[in-house]
Amino acid sequence: MRARIRGTGAAVPDTKITNADLEALVDTSDEWIVTRTGIRERGKLPADQGTSDLATLAAHEALKSAGLQASDIDLIVVCTCTPDMPMPTTAALVHRNLRVGRPIPAYDLNAVCAGFVFGLEVVVDQLMSGRYQRALLIGADAMTRLMDYQDRQTCVLFGDGAGAVVMTAEEGEAGVVATILKADGEFWDLIQVPGGGSRRPASPYMLAQREQYMRMNGRGTFKLAVQSMEQVILDTIARAGWTLDTVDHVLVHQANQRIIEATAERMGVPLSKVPTNVERTGNTSAASNPVLLDECVRAGRFAPGDRVICAGFGSGLSWGGVALIW
Ligand code: ACO
Repeated sequence: MRARIRGTGAAVPDTKITNADLEALVDTSDEWIVTRTGIRERGKLPADQGTSDLATLAAHEALKSAGLQASDIDLIVVCTCTPDMPMPTTAALVHRNLRVGRPIPAYDLNAVCAGFVFGLEVVVDQLMSGRYQRALLIGADAMTRLMDYQDRQTCVLFGDGAGAVVMTAEEGEAGVVATILKADGEFWDLIQVPGGGSRRPASPYMLAQREQYMRMNGRGTFKLAVQSMEQVILDTIARAGWTLDTVDHVLVHQANQRIIEATAERMGVPLSKVPTNVERTGNTSAASNPVLLDECVRAGRFAPGDRVICAGFGSGLSWGGVALIW
C-alpha cells in the first residue's frame, strides 16, 4: 500500500503585480528583479477575498481531476501561514465552501513555505493508518497581504496562490516512498512577521511600526535555502533507496530562480529535470510546491513510474523533502 496523488488542482489570481507596477511603488527596476530573482509577475488576491477562496478553487480543480465529489473526502488539511483570520481555521472555511455535507476532520498546518511537504508527510501517515480513505491536502497563501510595499527587499518576491492534491492509499508502486522534515528555530528571526500574533498583538503602536509585515534577511536566507534543500533532497533520495541519477523530476520551492539553479548546480542535476514557474508566480509559500506539481501534471510532464522529488524551505527555518513515484 502507498499513499498516492489521485488528482491535482491550482488557483493563481488573474490580477497580477508586474515588475513595472513595483517600479512605481519602490526604488527598484525590472532589470534588478529579473536578474536577482527571475520573477516577472505574481498573482494578487482581490481585496475582498481570503486564502480560503483560493484554496477552495484549487480544491475544486483537484477533486475534478480525481473524478471525485467533495462528499467523497474524509479529511481536509490546509497548509497556510496566512489564514483568513486567527479563528476559525481556513480548513473549516474550505469545508463549508466545498459543501462537504457532513462533519469531517479539517485543520490547518503551518510550516510557512515548507507547509506542503510537511502536510504530505502528515496526510500520508493518516491515510496509511487506514483511518481515512480520501484526503484533500491544500497549500494556500496570500503572501501579498504580508508585504510591506515600502520594503523593496521583500515586496518584489512574493505572490498569492493555492495548490491542492487529492490523496488515497492504494495497492501498487505509485505513491509516496520517503519523507524527511526538519526545523531549526535557531534561525527563527531570518524570516518573520513580528506583529499580529500573541507576542505583539494588533495595536496602533504595532501598526505604526509596520510590524504586521514580513521582514527578511535575504542574503542569510539565500545561503541556507540552497544548503538545506540540497541536503534534504540527497537525504530523501537515500531514504527512498534511490540514487540521484534515477530521479526524473526535482520540484524545488519556487522562491527565487537563482536559488533553484544554485541548488540544482550543487547537486549536478540538469535544469531539464527542474521545472520552474517562479517567473510567473513569485514565491507563493505553501502553494509553491503544489501549484508547480499541478502545472507539471497538466503539461503531461510526468509518466507513470517517474521518480519525483519535492523540496520545501521557509521561515522557521522549516524545510523538508518528499520522494514519490508517479
Ligand atoms: N531593487 C533594487 N535593489 C534592491 C532590491 C530591489 N528590489 N532589493 C534589495 N536591493 C539592493 C540592496 O539594498 C543592496 O543594496 P546595497 O548593496 O546598496 O546595500 C543590493 O540590492 C544587494 O542586496 P542583496 O540582499 O545582497 O541582494 P541579493 O542578490 O542577495 O538578492 C534577494 C536579494 C533576492 C532577497 C535574495 O537574497 C533572496 O532571494 N533571498 C532568499 C529569499 C528566500 O528564498 N526566501 C525563502 C523563504 S520565504 C518564506 O519562508 C516566507
